[in-house]
Amino acid sequence: MYSFVVQSFAEWRSCSRALLNAQVPPDQVIFRDSPVQATLFDDESAGEQSWSALVRVPARGHKVPQAFLDLAHAVSCHRDTDRFQLLYRLLWRLTTNEPRLMEVITDDDVHRLHQMEKAVRRDSHKMKAFVRFRKLVTPESEQFVAWHRPDHRVVRLVSPFFSRRFPAMNWTILTPDESVWWDQKELRYGPGCSRDHAPDGDELEDLWLTYYGSIFNPARIKVKTMIREMPVRHWATLPEATIIDDLLNDAPRRVAEMIARQEGHARSARDYLPAHQTLKSLREAAKTCRGCDLCCEATQTVFGEGPADARIVLVGEQPGDQEDLAGRPFVGPAGHVLDEALQQAGMDRSEVYLTNAVKHFKFEPTEKRRLHKKPSARESSACRPWVDAELRLIKPKVLVCLGATAAHSLIGPGFSVTRQRGQFVRSDWCEHTLATYHPSAILRSLQSESLRKLLIDDLKAAKHQADNS
Ligand code: URA
Ligand code: SF4
Repeated sequence: MYSFVVQSFAEWRSCSRALLNAQVPPDQVIFRDSPVQATLFDDESAGEQSWSALVRVPARGHKVPQAFLDLAHAVSCHRDTDRFQLLYRLLWRLTTNEPRLMEVITDDDVHRLHQMEKAVRRDSHKMKAFVRFRKLVTPESEQFVAWHRPDHRVVRLVSPFFSRRFPAMNWTILTPDESVWWDQKELRYGPGCSRDHAPDGDELEDLWLTYYGSIFNPARIKVKTMIREMPVRHWATLPEATIIDDLLNDAPRRVAEMIARQEGHARSARDYLPAHQTLKSLREAAKTCRGCDLCCEATQTVFGEGPADARIVLVGEQPGDQEDLAGRPFVGPAGHVLDEALQQAGMDRSEVYLTNAVKHFKFEPTEKRRLHKKPSARESSACRPWVDAELRLIKPKVLVCLGATAAHSLIGPGFSVTRQRGQFVRSDWCEHTLATYHPSAILRSLQSESLRKLLIDDLKAAKHQADNS
């Protein structure tokens, strides 16, 4: 009899490979997942001896279906102590005389495998939805800490999702099994901890509520499932119970819209415009926009802001990383450049209306951060109903397009910012429309000072025109 203490998928895999090479049948092996438990049975060294004997056996090529390995990876996170035993039994059967075993879904082992995988998947989904960070500020750093109690050992499965979602924050998720830290570079794992180590306080509540709303997929909601999937202990710690009600009430409408869109016309923000339009009702409605796929990955809709009677409207491209998290336009590095340029042109941010051609952040996730990606013409056009509606209500004296995306969307696709910037043209929305460089072009350019000067000149011209009309 061989016995092993195995705690991760990687360990199980190398163990199983050796066992298969040595042709050890499943009834000759015991897998356990904790050394404490192991001492109850027999002495540890028996396993180690078996192991060293096994690894001397020359490797043989075994063909294992990828579908099995994917399921096995998920199932290795299940809390059932028999999981590694089940996996090895299946592996043995697949590689000895049942290569098509995975197709026999009525087989007890295969059925159990699928059930366990489903439970792990559901639990991973729950962790993505229910983890809620609290902000901890110390003199040295800003930390975001969450406590969560998953049903299964899903921390390592789910952590990469959080590192993609919050790459630019230092965060920690504590669970009773183990904890994970992200330092904006690397995920590190450590021992589990109790609820008491997670801080309380509500600074991040708003951010979290919007985040939760944005990942809620109406087509998947079944009220009974929701209640089953949300054990009472989650409800106790979650203020988002309040928005779950709203989301549920709204779900049938959103599903109907999804179906209508699939059957008929191209998706666009048009389907989400409210019947009675004010800046306030537009802003509310835009929160639920699913007019294109950009809503799926971004945190929230970033709507325009500024006075409803602004004489000048400035339209940028799309929110950036910081705007996406804050829910406000031009609050990141490009926003600083713009604020300064406005001041130099004799204006203040509070007197203009600032918005974007596209209201959701488009990005490419990388190890370190979310890299800005230019929206496509299709996405610009899907989103145009929002900026159209904003302009229709504000009726500015002067409209300034910052960069090519806004200029192509509002003036026309043939417009060249390099050649035609600073010239007033007439657009559908405003008699006096002009395009100029985008503030982030100044951040990227080698000739940033000359571009900055042109941006300021163009803003001065906009102000002059607004003052005189
Ligand atoms: N760039 C934009 O175009 N808009 C923003 O809101 C921020 C950066
Ligand atoms: Fe809607 Fe615009 Fe966001 Fe696309 S980018 S989902 S159209 S708000």
